[in-house]
Amino acid sequence: MFKLDRKLIISASLVTAVALSVVGCFQGGDVTPPPSSEFNNHATIDGGVYYPVKDGRTGPYRINEDTLKGGFSHGRTPTANEIAAWDKDIMPDGTGLPEGSGSVEEGAEVYEAQCVSCHGDFGSGGAGYPSLAQGNAVTLQKTLKNQRVKPDADGPVRVFGAYWPYASTLWWYIRDAMPHTKSKSLTDNQVYALSAYILNINEFEIDGEKVDDDYVLDRAKFLKIKMPNVDGFEPIINGPQALDNVRNYYKDAKNFGGLNLKQGAVRCMTNCQKETAVVTRIQNGGISDLNPPLSSVRDLPAEKAVVLDPAQTLYEENCKVCHADSSMGAPVMGDKVAWGKVTAKGIDKVYANGMNGINAMPAKGGANLSDKDFKSVVDYMINSSK
Ligand code: HEC
Ligand code: HEC
Repeated sequence: MFKLDRKLIISASLVTAVALSVVGCFQGGDVTPPPSSEFNNHATIDGGVYYPVKDGRTGPYRINEDTLKGGFSHGRTPTANEIAAWDKDIMPDGTGLPEGSGSVEEGAEVYEAQCVSCHGDFGSGGAGYPSLAQGNAVTLQKTLKNQRVKPDADGPVRVFGAYWPYASTLWWYIRDAMPHTKSKSLTDNQVYALSAYILNINEFEIDGEKVDDDYVLDRAKFLKIKMPNVDGFEPIINGPQALDNVRNYYKDAKNFGGLNLKQGAVRCMTNCQKETAVVTRIQNGGISDLNPPLSSVRDLPAEKAVVLDPAQTLYEENCKVCHADSSMGAPVMGDKVAWGKVTAKGIDKVYANGMNGINAMPAKGGANLSDKDFKSVVDYMINSSK
């Protein structure tokens, strides 16, 4: 920040310029505004600090010398190391991005250990915690055009992959802010690994190569990431034309929704409705001109009560834990071959084995059943497996 970084200055002056034009006020205080020719009417003030404009371009941060007569009244000049410690932004062009590397696999490990508790499995998100992925970023980017015209319509998905214009912000965000409770604790390589993992769950390709499970991300590859929504933000606020782009963009109200406002027209702010609005409401009788008329009679089909075979209930309560799949080594319910082998012994033998227990099958399956009930369950299992 203290270094004269063009982009920061541009975005700071943009924010202030927009804020001023919105509130339409001039916070002069006792600072006399400088001549408008010098400042191009962009009176940008941070307590006496101006961004002078030269050749139609906002120049570097300039201090109003009058406020500094006699030197600093508090604080001191920051040391070079202090400046370096603050000046850590990671920019889309790679400014600030260190060398390093990390794989999707390592990223998944760190994610499981340090991120999953808040951001959910595979970045699914959780109450209050942003989702980091919802699927293929390129596909989801298209949802940004969705308008939620109905409450249940699919709205735009604004997760990192689909929405963010630059991946550098992800790297920066993770390094400086995450994990939330222990920020700035990750190594650069871990940040590469986590970025790789997040790109993987967003189904990214970098330079034509899929970020699959054994992808290894490094600085050079990182700089080749093209986010699907890179052009989704207007005006374009980076590059040497940034400030001009911003000015031109805001000059034309059509660019930000002022579609019906003719050039030079004044927005109406009070009593703008010319005719009295006629509100049509559905009357008590409902809508009458539908054919066939809408019915208000509730005639939903009656629900059929499900009657379980008593043997089925006993099976579910006592036997299913072991007989539903092959993991317990028991003949699986519905497995014709397995039950064919069982019944080949003769039904009495089978009853006896079941009641006395055989190998890993406890007597009567460990259930407190009468002989008759137990046999009925065996019959049920045999009959269901024919
Ligand atoms: C204790 C909970 C918690 C943990 C653990 C955590 N985060 Fe976060 N994370 C958050 C919260 C809360 C936000 C939203 C912050 C905000 O919007 O102000 C966030 C935001 C983010 C974002 C920005 C998402 C967006 O779309 O705005 C990223 C990326 C992120 N976290 C990555 C990680 C990574 C990687 C880890 C593991 C190293 C991690 N987080 C661990 C709580 C957590
Ligand atoms: C704790 C797990 C378990 C439970 C509970 C269980 N079984 Fe079994 N059952 C087995 C296993 C294991 C076998 C296979 C035994 C073998 O042949 O080695 C088996 C085999 C059987 C056989 C075949 C016996 C034979 O002659 O091959 C029948 C019949 C049977 N069980 C009925 C039942 C019934 C009825 C219930 C519930 C009332 C039940 N089992 C509950 C584990 C279980």
